Amino acid sequence: MMDRIISSLIDFRAFANSFLSNYEPLALLLAPLLTLFTARILQSLCLLVHDNGLKPTILGFLITSIKMVPGVKGYIDAEKQKVVEKLKEGLGAAVIEKLKQEKSNDVVWQGKCSGTVYIGGSESEGHFSLINEACSMFAHTNPLHMDVFQTIAQCEAEVVAMTAALLGSKNKSSGGEICGNMTSGGTESILLAVKSSRDYMKAKKGIKRPEMIIPESAHSAYDKAAQYFNIKLRRVPVNKNFQADVKAIRQQINKNTVLIVGSAPGFPHGIIDPIEELGELAYSYGICFHVDLCLGGFVLPFACKLGYPIPPFDFSVKGE
Ligand SMILES: Cc1ncc(COP(=O)(O)O)c(C=O)c1O
Repeated sequence: MMDRIISSLIDFRAFANSFLSNYEPLALLLAPLLTLFTARILQSLCLLVHDNGLKPTILGFLITSIKMVPGVKGYIDAEKQKVVEKLKEGLGAAVIEKLKQEKSNDVVWQGKCSGTVYIGGSESEGHFSLINEACSMFAHTNPLHMDVFQTIAQCEAEVVAMTAALLGSKNKSSGGEICGNMTSGGTESILLAVKSSRDYMKAKKGIKRPEMIIPESAHSAYDKAAQYFNIKLRRVPVNKNFQADVKAIRQQINKNTVLIVGSAPGFPHGIIDPIEELGELAYSYGICFHVDLCLGGFVLPFACKLGYPIPPFDFSVKGE
């Protein structure tokens, strides 16, 4: 059996050698290389059709081929350059004109829309123009890179320190360990406060299925936070004065509660919740308490200074 196999192999070798002797050695060398190369191109083509579809692949191939015709590429480049020149010439001014025109159809909000923009007056004068100028100086910055944008980092630190001082950081019950960061507005501030509370309570008490309790009057940012950070939201009706109902909130507290919320004042009614009582309640259960001061943070401290009877709302209130 073995002899027959060996003899067949010898016959095959003799036949192959005699057959291949009809070809040049170079042709014999190039043939497999060319076959491999063609197979590789076919494979890439199949992948291209698979990824992009047959029609776009054929179109792409046609366009690339047309561009290779002498003169076509030069023509396309010249057309592209024309567009660039047009952009340089004055598309900027045209865009600004168009924006101005469209903006003129917007609602006139100055001093007329509650909870919208908190300064009045003309957008091109006084405090507005000062703010616009300062903001435009730093419009093209990325505060993540504090080593590059040092002024922004310094501004942030100063704003945090000033805000903390305004809200009672010097008061003993603040604990003296206030920290913060700049956000894009009230909503982001609320999101970060809720996330911090959730993480803090997970570390402190190991709460893995967090819940938070908010009065019905709390801002919708808390609903967003609950969805973003996977927190069960318990919404409690306000009392007859439209304030957070402390007793009703107490009834909702359980072992998974990470946070209680109060507003000073709240978004829908402009009414201040009983912050001190809510703070005491949260403290007695060892849970976090967040006061939404988006509306009142930069008003109430000055109202206090002016002698208005404002109940405690800031870091002077005891809390976690
Ligand atoms: C009490 C209160 N909380 C939260 C917010 C949300 O702030 P922003 O619109 O800047 O996200 C507002 C906005 O008016 C507010 O009044």
